[in-house]
Amino acid sequence: MKLQFHTPFIRITLIVFLQLINPSLQWSEPHDFSSIPTPAPWPERFHALLYMNLSSTRLQITNLWYDWPRGRNVNIIQKQLSVLLYDVEWNNGTTFYYTLSEPHSCRIMVNDVGIPRPDFLDGANYLGTAVTDGYLCNVWEKVDTIWYYEDVYTKRPVRWDFYDGISTHVMTFEVGAALLDDSVTQAPAYCFNQEIKNV
Ligand SMILES: *[C@@H]1O[C@H](CO)[C@@H](O)[C@H](O)[C@H]1NC(C)=O
Ligand SMILES: *[C@@H]1O[C@H](CO)[C@@H](O)[C@H](O)[C@H]1NC(C)=O
Repeated sequence: MKLQFHTPFIRITLIVFLQLINPSLQWSEPHDFSSIPTPAPWPERFHALLYMNLSSTRLQITNLWYDWPRGRNVNIIQKQLSVLLYDVEWNNGTTFYYTLSEPHSCRIMVNDVGIPRPDFLDGANYLGTAVTDGYLCNVWEKVDTIWYYEDVYTKRPVRWDFYDGISTHVMTFEVGAALLDDSVTQAPAYCFNQEIKNV
């Protein structure tokens, strides 16, 4: 897919050009530099239904329950024609990755980053606008890791791509929704008689 970026650089170049041909012309849009869009921070709580195309081109549907006040990020993952997986990430760096039905499995992973902060996109580079999934979006890139597409008009995320080839498409985005059923985020007993893997 070819992306068409309308960069602020082009607008600025145009203004400079107009000033050259008519020096009396002042910066007609003095706010132009500051109007480079920045991504909306993530709401402190939301639920999103995500359609994900993995780098293997396998598909999965993920229910994402982001809850910054609780320091918890829950991904309930339905890989195509496979078992339902629970991926419960805590802000202290512990992630539990388990099934609640047969075949039982559990992995515990530890990292020193925790869950994404609501402002994790701060400092991302603005790339311009592009149409994706049929929506006109502002697009940013951050440290060659994430390419983030946000609806120009509603400021909702539409899509994000990771460097590892996983492409995530946002199907629903419910601001303020919280996962109240703690029974699914309680790691099962068989998680607690094994080694912890540091990642
Ligand atoms: C998944 O991504 C691959 C690579 O970009 C693409 O060829 C394929 O059509 C996508 N599949 C679906 C169902 O979106
Ligand atoms: C992190 O928090 C979760 C949930 O409270 C807890 O189960 C886990 O043991 C904690 N991890 C560490 C390393 O304290």
